[in-house]
Amino acid sequence: MQTTMSSPAAPAGERKVLLKAENLERRFGGLTAVADFSFELYDGEILGLIGPNGAGKSTTFNLISGFIPPTSGNLVFLGENITRKSATHISRMGLIRTFQHDSLLSDMSVADNIVIGTTRRLKSPAAREQKMREMAKLTGLEDHLDVMAGSLPHGLQRMLSIAIALAAEPKVLCLDEPLTGLQGVEVAAALDLFEMIRSQLGITILLVEHNMRAVMRICDRILVLNHGRLLASGTPEAVSRDEHVIEAYLGHKK
Ligand SMILES: Nc1ncnc2c1ncn2[C@@H]1O[C@H](COP(=O)(O)OP(=O)(O)O)[C@@H](O)[C@H]1O
Ligand SMILES: [Mg+2]
Repeated sequence: MQTTMSSPAAPAGERKVLLKAENLERRFGGLTAVADFSFELYDGEILGLIGPNGAGKSTTFNLISGFIPPTSGNLVFLGENITRKSATHISRMGLIRTFQHDSLLSDMSVADNIVIGTTRRLKSPAAREQKMREMAKLTGLEDHLDVMAGSLPHGLQRMLSIAIALAAEPKVLCLDEPLTGLQGVEVAAALDLFEMIRSQLGITILLVEHNMRAVMRICDRILVLNHGRLLASGTPEAVSRDEHVIEAYLGHKK
């Protein structure tokens, strides 16, 4: 049933596993949002997590980042069992996530929003300011440092969310629908940014995204969730040909 192919960029057994989810399950009352979900995230890859609305993608992010505990199953990050660890503990270990809906401090400047995101490792205000400037430059915000976050155009607010996450110096960056509401040119720029985050900063990316063309273009491997369960996984080519995947998406378009 399941198409499991290892991509050339991530041959199983050769690359280090950063995050391992084993039989993750999360119930909300009678609803099972995530069920028996197992996957591995390899060092240096861009792994896509896709699925129709309500498939359990954001819940998966909430589970792996410690925002909510799983009903059952295990999570191992950098060799440590983080299953019931706090969100603070997990973020300090280097797993940083963004939210589907931006959670910016609207009444604070772009600069202050990024400074607040900086890692605790940076002790001096000067070091935090330098990190803030680097991340603002990378995300195209260097000319907007004094603007209130809430007054930024939507596209730049999305970039600010990413700048804040990068300021924490993640090992793994989990992006929840970062392209929503972006225009064509902005989408292309964001994809270039993701590539740069991976290649120049050495950060591994887990990407939840509805924009299929973008996902197919940028991801090394893709996991497909449907009703909380893993429907297929493999290279973009393999999952886009998978009959179960096609059926799940067409089924939801009706
Ligand atoms: N805190 C919650 N309480 C109750 N139900 C929830 C909660 N969070 C998510 N759900 C439900 O879990 C399912 C999966 O949601 P979600 O993970 O947000 O899906 P996706 O991000 O793939 O669109 C949906 O049916 C949603 O309504
Ligand atoms: Mg979601």
